[in-house]
Amino acid sequence: MTVSHVQPLLNQRIVIGISGGIAAYKIPELVRRLKDWGADVRCVITQGGQAFITPLTLQAVSGNPVHHDLLDPAAEAAMGHIELAKWADLVLIAPASANTVAQLAHGHAGDLLTTICLATAAPLLVAPAMNQQMWAHAAVQANCEQLRQRGVQLIEPASGAQACGDLGAGRMPEPLQLRDAVLAALTTIEPVLAGKQLVITAGPTREAIDPVRYLSNHSSGKMGFALAAAAQQLGARVTLVAGPCQLPTPAQVQRIDVVSAADMLAAVEHHVGTADIFIGCAAVADYRPAVAADQKIKKQHDAMQLELVKNPDILASVANRPQPPFCIGFAAETEQLEQYASGKLTAKKLAMIAANNVSDSSIGFNSDENAMQLMWYDQAGKLQQQHLDKASKQAIAMAILRQAAALMATS
Ligand code: C5P
Repeated sequence: MTVSHVQPLLNQRIVIGISGGIAAYKIPELVRRLKDWGADVRCVITQGGQAFITPLTLQAVSGNPVHHDLLDPAAEAAMGHIELAKWADLVLIAPASANTVAQLAHGHAGDLLTTICLATAAPLLVAPAMNQQMWAHAAVQANCEQLRQRGVQLIEPASGAQACGDLGAGRMPEPLQLRDAVLAALTTIEPVLAGKQLVITAGPTREAIDPVRYLSNHSSGKMGFALAAAAQQLGARVTLVAGPCQLPTPAQVQRIDVVSAADMLAAVEHHVGTADIFIGCAAVADYRPAVAADQKIKKQHDAMQLELVKNPDILASVANRPQPPFCIGFAAETEQLEQYASGKLTAKKLAMIAANNVSDSSIGFNSDENAMQLMWYDQAGKLQQQHLDKASKQAIAMAILRQAAALMATS
């Protein structure tokens, strides 16, 4: 049986306020992704916003008229500003310019968007986006603080290259991250993993050839870190055994950094004894050099041979313990997804496997998004599957863990 991925925002009414900023060009994508999840979206655009994106584009993607004028009798007759403010289950302002942030902080109602913000009882999410120097300005920070204290949820801007050429904090988060923030603001997360202990492996491993060289792979660790963050949010205590990767440790997660597969196995064995769930998300190197040279290997001949030996299978070794935790594996395949993944599910004695097609470069390794096929055997021994549509790794992580919690509850 294939269960289609649910629409977590079904019938939720979202007003998106778009103010003047180059990041406005990403909003049509956000509107489409919100609609994918079942939301009904109406866009309100300021005059500044219209310098970057047209109402017609937003109307086409949202399927609804776009609101931009407070004093337009025709628009007011169709759906007035008070009606729109009452219609909303949530108001998201993205991008929120420094000017819009200031207007909100001081309760101005000079245009349609700020008026709606005063007239609505719905939660207000604000995604400031601006030049890094502007974002760092004390006046902007004070305005943001004032909004926070009033219960407005600020979505922190991301850091990186800015359209103006500067580098720093002030970028609007990507549409999928904004959609996650909308979902989080509208849902109370049920702590389905409360009281559970999880051990998760993430990232690549490095297998030394000599003191300066190693064998490794392109795993970014993002999926494993997203799982750790999601498990913590769902109420679990989490130990994250991470191969070398440059990612911040999720809040309240115990992180153990390791380098090689052997180190990873040792760390896992040390912590897994009391775990309820083990997730092998790391891209463990299958082989390592038979000997790691003590000194740097010198360049000598035109060819050289490197003898490799097989690494231990960490996931299989945990799943084969006398009283194993609920074991979840990952299968990255380029063909025959169902056949190879279900083969691993059986061979490694796993409770569940999350399979993805890595020949699609827009998902998987190094990407911020993923799409998955979850597989498990039901109590009658029949293969069950759940398809998780392409979404941020955070959303995919939540879906995997909720499914695992549901299976544990019924087994
Ligand atoms: O057999 P394959 O490498 O495709 O299996 C992938 C799954 O097994 C992943 O969940 C991975 O984390 C785990 N694995 C492991 N130790 C290895 C190889 C894979 O834990 N040495």
